[in-house]
Amino acid sequence: KTVGIIFGGKSAEHEVSLQSAKNIVGAINRDKYDIVLLGVAKTGKWFLYDPETYLINESNPKEIALTNSNREVAVVPGEASAQIIDLSTQAAINQIDVIFPVVHGTLGEDGSLQGILRTINLPFVGVDLLGSAVSMDKDFAKRILRDAGIPVANGLVFKAYQKQDIIFDQVIEKLGLPVFIKPVNQGSSVGVSKANTENEFYKGIESAFLYDDKILIEEAVIGREIECAVLGNDNPIASLPGEILPQTEFYSYESKYIDENGAILSAPAELSPADTEKVRTTALQVFKVLDCEGLARVDFFLQANGRLVVNEVNTLPGFTKISMYPRLWSLTGVSYPELIDRLIQLAFE
Ligand code: DAL
Ligand code: MG
Repeated sequence: KTVGIIFGGKSAEHEVSLQSAKNIVGAINRDKYDIVLLGVAKTGKWFLYDPETYLINESNPKEIALTNSNREVAVVPGEASAQIIDLSTQAAINQIDVIFPVVHGTLGEDGSLQGILRTINLPFVGVDLLGSAVSMDKDFAKRILRDAGIPVANGLVFKAYQKQDIIFDQVIEKLGLPVFIKPVNQGSSVGVSKANTENEFYKGIESAFLYDDKILIEEAVIGREIECAVLGNDNPIASLPGEILPQTEFYSYESKYIDENGAILSAPAELSPADTEKVRTTALQVFKVLDCEGLARVDFFLQANGRLVVNEVNTLPGFTKISMYPRLWSLTGVSYPELIDRLIQLAFE
């Protein structure tokens, strides 16, 4: 079988995707699968890469930092030697049996890419259009989870045209302080900030609106940050939970990918058997409620009173060196190469 791996993308998580793709390409069983590499530049142009010469530039770690706006021309590896492609006519595409989309965030994780793949009739790894779109949208995901009786944090949603109506006093009367301000459709905490003061509040709103025209202002849930990986289609399984111990104000983009001491990832999480069970069961419930298939990582807050609040769901979770998804599976007995193999197999079911 030939696996087409799509990486990069126009989103603010472009650099994260390069790291994820690198690990997946490294782990894929090349005796079993041929690969075709499709890189999407930040401009949105698609490139075909030679799998043998494909390399991500690691000499300058700043390259994965979020220093440029997403309108910058891509840092797709080896772009100079890559061949620009027209998806509809290119012969190399015709040999692909299945796509592994490794594109996080906007246009990659939000159903857009999944829609294209459905249209051109290619099976693909992971969640389909609807589940992707709903899980990516923190507003819609919250409503659906709440409707299913699954606890989520309280929040208020505003569109860009309502910006003038966002009044600090009114918001904190409902949500208290601090609050988290998030673009609704983003990943990796890009554009997310925590506001303790009025000044931080309005600054946070400005930065969130840079990334989306819909923002979410959310109450701060005090609790342990627990993550659980889910794998499968109709009968999914849940991994052992892991725990994030942010060493900064919160688990920000910087603490995830730039500052090596930004967060400690402890796995498996030190939880009672009952809490472990609750996390795993709820993760499976969330996966089903949001119409997920293939894979997802469900992120929670576990409060001191035992209440488990869903923070968010990631349908194309990171596969970087520090990422929880593959790590939780390896602790649960599914090695990295086996995980990739199972994900590809699930795309055909
Ligand atoms: N959005 C990033 C890639 C994650 O959830 O791991
Ligand atoms: Mg996310």
